Amino acid sequence: MRTRLVEVDDARALMNILNPEVIEASVSFDLVPKSLEEQRDWILEHQSTHLCLVAVGTDDDVGERGARDEPVLGFASFSPFRERPAYATTVENSVYVHRGARGLGVGERLLNDLIASAKESGFHSLIARIVGENTGSIRLHEKCGFTLVGTEIEVGRKHGRWLDVVEYQYVMPDLRP
Ligand SMILES: CC(C)(COP(=O)(O)OP(=O)(O)OC[C@H]1O[C@@H](n2cnc3c(N)ncnc32)[C@H](O)[C@@H]1OP(=O)(O)O)[C@@H](O)C(=O)NCCC(=O)NCCS
Repeated sequence: MRTRLVEVDDARALMNILNPEVIEASVSFDLVPKSLEEQRDWILEHQSTHLCLVAVGTDDDVGERGARDEPVLGFASFSPFRERPAYATTVENSVYVHRGARGLGVGERLLNDLIASAKESGFHSLIARIVGENTGSIRLHEKCGFTLVGTEIEVGRKHGRWLDVVEYQYVMPDLRP
């Protein structure tokens, strides 16, 4: 497995990885599945200041076909945390792994490479906002060095249920005062 920067031709693969979570799960707070065009626009945004990495596997039977027909196993990205300028050194991250490729270290590799990319780009901290019942994502973020900074109670509502959001943060260790 390796990671690389996202390309526009990965749009269908990313859409096919994301949309089952949008439709069936509570881990994404989107309520409407992304169209291919929206996914392409999202990629274009994440090819400039903010960033998206995809994990590419070696087994053609696992994942979704991406650019150059490579099997895409998952993706991780960061986006602006808040619009106001003093927040500019913090980004909000997210990570999605194909349902057929979970438990194999893909998420961990993506998140560690994303942290390294954020550091290289000069960002000081990453924030992950995770639905409180998403134990897998919480454990993954803890394993990669994120710590809990707070819980927002019942801020989300999906599939007829109130959802808490836990906020985890990673501050670049050697940039701490
Ligand atoms: C959360 C998610 C990204 C994890 O990706 P993954 O590739 O399966 O995770 P990895 O195999 O890299 O696991 C790394 C570590 O994360 C933790 N972890 C991952 N899945 C877990 C689960 N279901 N339960 C408990 N811990 C889990 C473990 O600590 C694991 O380390 P270990 O194998 O040494 O115990 C994946 O399940 C996913 O895409 N879920 C749906 C989308 C989502 O929830 N995204 C996060 C939104 S905030």
